[in-house]
Amino acid sequence: MSEELGIRAATAADAKAVDALIRAAFAGTDFGHQGEAELVRMIEADGDALVSLVAERCGDIVGHVLFSRMDVEADGDAVAAAGLAPVSVAPDRQGQGVGTALIRAGLDVLREQGVAMSFVLGHDDYYPRFGYSPRLATRFVSHFSGPHFMAMMLDSAAEWPQGGRADYAPAFGRLG
Ligand SMILES: CC(C)(COP(=O)(O)OP(=O)(O)OC[C@H]1O[C@@H](n2cnc3c(N)ncnc32)[C@H](O)[C@@H]1OP(=O)(O)O)[C@@H](O)C(=O)NCCC(=O)NCCS
Repeated sequence: MSEELGIRAATAADAKAVDALIRAAFAGTDFGHQGEAELVRMIEADGDALVSLVAERCGDIVGHVLFSRMDVEADGDAVAAAGLAPVSVAPDRQGQGVGTALIRAGLDVLREQGVAMSFVLGHDDYYPRFGYSPRLATRFVSHFSGPHFMAMMLDSAAEWPQGGRADYAPAFGRLG
């Protein structure tokens, strides 16, 4: 049986399956549980989703990643930026590279869109492998500032801004 992983843009027809996947992925975690599924719905309703991808194996949706529009200012200028959240992999498919493939594919789409920066709040042993840096994030004032807040320049050769402000999409502020 072929187990090849396919990654494609999520469509409106995937909404139910994606919602169930997010709930299942976060059920056993300390994170927002149902809050993450609700967050995705709010971001999409607000028109703030920049990249939404699903991973499929044998016709089943086994992973999802969302990047949403952020309001970011760096060294006094507005910059196009995307927040990574949430990323969800079906519990029985975790640790098989699905999350890695989704995040890498999403970052590539953001680059094609001309997005300059991405931010994430998460495990500091997972996201640095994609280029996210806690050190770069400390240069930005944000509601989410702290040890798990990370930032990356999507062009790895780009100079780091000296400082700025990073605000997530309004839906994050409406989370219960
Ligand atoms: C975190 C998550 C997206 C990673 O996706 P994945 O497909 O399981 O991970 P990959 O196979 O691509 O990468 C494996 C690496 O992720 C790490 N990892 C796997 N599951 C993890 C988990 N539940 N929490 C933290 N790290 C995890 C492993 O330690 C492994 O690291 P290594 O390469 O150093 O051994 C996925 O496990 C998941 O959906 N978890 C539940 C929801 C969640 O916590 N989302 C992220 C919120 S910040």
